[in-house]
Amino acid sequence: MEKVFALPNGEELVASVLGPGEGRGTTAVQHEVYSFLTRPFDPWMVPTEGGFLAEFLAGTDDPSLADTMLVGRIDGTVVGTAWHGTDHDLPEMGGYGFVFTEPEQRGKGIAQRLTELSISGFWAVGGQVSYLGTMNPVAQHIYEKNDYRHYNGLTFRALRPGTDADTFDETFFGRAGDGEVRDIRLGDIGAYTGLVMLLEPREWLVRDYTEAMFYAPPAVQASGCLRPFFNSMTRHTASPANAWKVLINDRGRLVASANLWAPTHAPVAANATMEFQAAPAYVDRASAVIEAALEDAAANDVRAVRACAVGEARLAVLREAGFVEEVVQPAALDLGDQRVDVTVMRRDLG
Ligand SMILES: CC(C)(COP(=O)(O)OP(=O)(O)OC[C@H]1O[C@@H](n2cnc3c(N)ncnc32)[C@H](O)[C@@H]1OP(=O)(O)O)[C@@H](O)C(=O)NCCC(=O)NCCS
Repeated sequence: MEKVFALPNGEELVASVLGPGEGRGTTAVQHEVYSFLTRPFDPWMVPTEGGFLAEFLAGTDDPSLADTMLVGRIDGTVVGTAWHGTDHDLPEMGGYGFVFTEPEQRGKGIAQRLTELSISGFWAVGGQVSYLGTMNPVAQHIYEKNDYRHYNGLTFRALRPGTDADTFDETFFGRAGDGEVRDIRLGDIGAYTGLVMLLEPREWLVRDYTEAMFYAPPAVQASGCLRPFFNSMTRHTASPANAWKVLINDRGRLVASANLWAPTHAPVAANATMEFQAAPAYVDRASAVIEAALEDAAANDVRAVRACAVGEARLAVLREAGFVEEVVQPAALDLGDQRVDVTVMRRDLG
């Protein structure tokens, strides 16, 4: 779909909205967008993000991802981009990113037009919540004009118009059956991000130690948004030892997750680190998703798995999953007004 906007300065912005699978490939057109966004002579994104961008532009093999690429042009030249990804089968939760306007074209309203197109398209397919992360005040201003609100640290979320922000998490991630375990997939980008960002269970503090995601407001809040998904997915696809399982409830919602990271260097390859998250209503099912991930890892020669926890509630989940205390790192986590111990738990896979 193409939409033409008359910008306030009189110029014409032609916005291409490339729906899932549309306009993808490895031709000069996609290469132009890739170079525009990655800025080879002034890079602003990390290689992991660049790798996913290349995959999204080329068209991913994973049919679970429904992503929309937005490309704005003035006089045929790319001047701005944006991207939104959600799940193909259940497009409820999404992630927004790759928003960039050519420096000389800034202030003309380009990012605002693309953001409007992105979020209105997501509501039209049934979207419930979209996440993004930024520390840029100009970007924040634009996102706030388009229903995004500050949520957790640098993360913003837009809730479907009419949704009660105070009760959304509890309702959306509420109990609906015991859930079934399956592998993670690319279409989970919004759903997994929503799970990592959840403000509850408040007492867990550690959300993803590997990705330095902690939640202990006001001093410590989310320091990333889509980054944990991109990085963990990169590790997961790099090696079968890096198992990643998620729990899907009866409403098709992702409510718990466990992923592993085993180093590739032979002397330590049998030692993995595990990260896990669960919505409050599914804490009792966290050990099931952990067990499934450990089974996969054991089949791929992982022999010992370690996970970090602060606080009794998270430690209890690990104990239930067969982990025992290995070491306590005194005052390892700085929460601003206090330092707390981090307990490293270990489970041997035999
Ligand atoms: C953020 C970015 C995409 C904005 O693109 P843009 O096309 O120039 O944005 P627009 O012209 O649509 O809108 C700019 C708005 O910011 C406002 N603005 C400008 N400076 C501002 C500031 N310091 N603080 C808050 N708002 C500011 C403008 O007034 C305008 O809003 P208005 O129309 O309500 O008056 C662009 O600056 C960029 O590419 N930055 C680098 C990449 C980046 O940070 N991307 C976002 C991270 S996810």
